[in-house]
Amino acid sequence: MPKCIIDGKEVEFTPGQNLIEVARTAGVEIPYFCYHPGMSVVAQCRMCAVEVEKMPKLQTACSMAPTDGMVVKTKSEKTLKNQKAVMEFLLVNHPLDCPVCDQSGECDLQDHSFKHGDAYMRTTEDRRTYIDLDMGPVIQKNMNRCIHCTRCIRFGDEIAGIHEMVAVKRGNNTEITTIDGKQLQTQYAGNYADICPTGSLTIKDFRFKKRVWFLKKTPTVCEGCSRGCNIELHQDADVIYRTVPRTNMEVNKYWICDEGRFNYQYVHDADRVITPAVRTGGTLEMSIWKEAVTAARETLKGKKVAVLVGSDLTQEEGKLLLDFSSKQWAGSQAFHFGTPGITSAAQDTPEDKILRRTSKTSNLQGLEKLGYKGFTSLPHGVEAVVVFRGGRAVVPEVKGIPVVGVGVFNRKDTENYAAVLPGQSFAEKDGTVVNFEGREQKIKRAIRAPRECKGLSEVLMMWSNL
Ligand code: SF4
Ligand code: SF4
Ligand code: FES
Repeated sequence: MPKCIIDGKEVEFTPGQNLIEVARTAGVEIPYFCYHPGMSVVAQCRMCAVEVEKMPKLQTACSMAPTDGMVVKTKSEKTLKNQKAVMEFLLVNHPLDCPVCDQSGECDLQDHSFKHGDAYMRTTEDRRTYIDLDMGPVIQKNMNRCIHCTRCIRFGDEIAGIHEMVAVKRGNNTEITTIDGKQLQTQYAGNYADICPTGSLTIKDFRFKKRVWFLKKTPTVCEGCSRGCNIELHQDADVIYRTVPRTNMEVNKYWICDEGRFNYQYVHDADRVITPAVRTGGTLEMSIWKEAVTAARETLKGKKVAVLVGSDLTQEEGKLLLDFSSKQWAGSQAFHFGTPGITSAAQDTPEDKILRRTSKTSNLQGLEKLGYKGFTSLPHGVEAVVVFRGGRAVVPEVKGIPVVGVGVFNRKDTENYAAVLPGQSFAEKDGTVVNFEGREQKIKRAIRAPRECKGLSEVLMMWSNL
């Protein structure tokens, strides 16, 4: 393998890697703004410029592929002087609003200013100011904070496949906006905020809700479709504040879609059934576990039962339910359900050219591997239904016979249920899901479920033993 020398260290590299990445493998950080490993290189910000022996001028590390024997200095006087100058230039117009900026605490501009900038600047001119721009349901732009790195423009063009972000005007008046000020169209708009190295593009849903340093991060898997994008859930005190992508080059690269990003919101829905509930008279009333399990059992007792299992449940839960239902309701049939119109993995197709799939649950493939068949209609003679659901699967309509729900439900969806035994959502438990390619991935508990919501194994144990 060819080798170059970075800050006196000999480093092996793969031809084609740029200097930023090669330096990273040697533990050397070269600061940058406009470079993003998932998009084209434009070498605009000049922050990554380093000294390369035998070259008279500094070279931008993002656009430079090292050659065998090349000697690079990332801490030389010339390099450090350039970094200070670039920081001073980028901050000429940047407001001093870190205390009220959502990016604060995870801002490249803030971090590089602290590490590589100067405590003083010479400008005496007024900073340019703009009113915040509403870019649609997901993004709000604060142009004052923009450093014109053009990552957002490239994301639209190269990843989202839609030319909607542009730079207008020139020089000090350059402004990032959407074409004709239209709202963003992409289903992947949240990524604009993720890649913006400053607090210029913010996610409306997260704006001003939490300082990022209070957030605890849990690596897990999105349950929004059968792709199984890798994500982090960020929470504090058992409240999820946001979802961000987790890089997995084989599943989702650096990105997630908006549907997956905001899917977690149902976990905190005020309408969620979070205590055991039993139908008394015409309404579903709060109850206690013992009474609700008894009522659920009585509802199904002696009847021919159909078992509907959401493909938003994990492999462990799916396996448990197969064993449980064959013992509990001998002769019953168990079906998976999840997305209207999709009754088998063969019908799960790409929804676009990026990530989204038509099956809107995370474990369709997994339940089919366990032997579940897709639900189409109730078999002849079924007298009662028990539905197990993780929180995302769309429950097929069942009319005229008693229904018991176990898992995550909203009150409005359980109007005809005889009993509901509240369970845990994907954010509140551990487990395995299998994506559309057959890849097994782990979901991890990020928060504690509301107190009365129990794990499936505990519910089934109560069902058997009470
Ligand atoms: S809005 Fe953000 S990503 Fe877009 S050019 Fe400005 S700083 Fe870069
Ligand atoms: S593409 Fe699917 S798995 Fe990925 S973030 Fe969107 S909904 Fe989640
Ligand atoms: S990261 Fe290299 S010039 Fe911006």
